Amino acid sequence: MKIALGSDHGGYNLKEYIKDTLEQKGIRCMDFGTYSTRSVDYPDFALKVAKSVAGGECDQGILCCGTGIGISIAANKVPGIRAAVCGDCFSARMAREHNNANILCLGERVVGRGLAFEIVEAWLKAEFQGGRHEKRLDKISDIERAYSNF
Ligand code: RB5
Repeated sequence: MKIALGSDHGGYNLKEYIKDTLEQKGIRCMDFGTYSTRSVDYPDFALKVAKSVAGGECDQGILCCGTGIGISIAANKVPGIRAAVCGDCFSARMAREHNNANILCLGERVVGRGLAFEIVEAWLKAEFQGGRHEKRLDKISDIERAYSNF
């Protein structure tokens, strides 16, 4: 499994912590930046990670910004991306089981490191349940297609 990681300055420290912790557990990561706390724009890093996941270079992605919100909005503009902002473990599990979220977004200014990593683990451990959820995801893909040349 290879995880794409990205953040803006507001999520940089959390992204670094998640990278170190995943790597200690033997999970491969590709770090798309940012690489310091210097102010940057979150859409730039959302795009890099979203392209890597949508294109199959990485299996899943984790994005961090101050709240997780801006970076998730940007990532969700890339076709095939289902990015979910989660602040608790139940939502993280559901994001995978029901929504097949392929990018998890976290807010460094919202959750502490301990909870953030439990959220990451809950999301990575969960599996998409398919079944009735499949047709709902198909409808999301239909919306993407319908508005791709809008
Ligand atoms: C940066 O100050 C902040 O706006 C950003 O990290 C994020 O929270 C946006 O949604």
